[in-house]
Amino acid sequence: YKLLLVNGVNLNLLGKREPEIYGHTTLAEIEERLIARAAEHGVELICIQSNHEGQLVDDIQHYGLLADPAAQVDAIIINPAAFTHTSVALRDALLATQKPFIEVHLSNIHAREPFRQHSYLSDIAAGVICGLGQQGYQMALDYWLTHTYLVSQ
Ligand code: DQA
Repeated sequence: YKLLLVNGVNLNLLGKREPEIYGHTTLAEIEERLIARAAEHGVELICIQSNHEGQLVDDIQHYGLLADPAAQVDAIIINPAAFTHTSVALRDALLATQKPFIEVHLSNIHAREPFRQHSYLSDIAAGVICGLGQQGYQMALDYWLTHTYLVSQ
């Protein structure tokens, strides 16, 4: 069982970027913890981040559809960051894979500027977690780990 964690534009700056909104933890620290947690359950977590929309589309296509079946992921966790509010391309890439995904946001996008309140992904997501900081990633991972356990029984 494999999972994919996708982080979008500007999330390489976590820890340095508006820490009052996004926290002090770096993306590397978040990824490390999640990888370790997944490994405890015998699950491989593949982590990608890019500031380039097309790169994210390429990676989602690869891990979700084009790679050898053994190298493909079973489910996805994605924080598309600002691409949430702009990207039909990411929506289409996720639809193409037919892999279930959870949309995560560190901040509560509904409590911020109006332009953050529309997501191109939420209506096709298995679930959406926002406003709970880095714990949101962990909750999304735990959901997929439980799900893995349930479907493998
Ligand atoms: C974000 C929310 C987005 O509106 C914003 O553009 C981000 C991060 C979040 O995690 O809270 O870059 O996805």
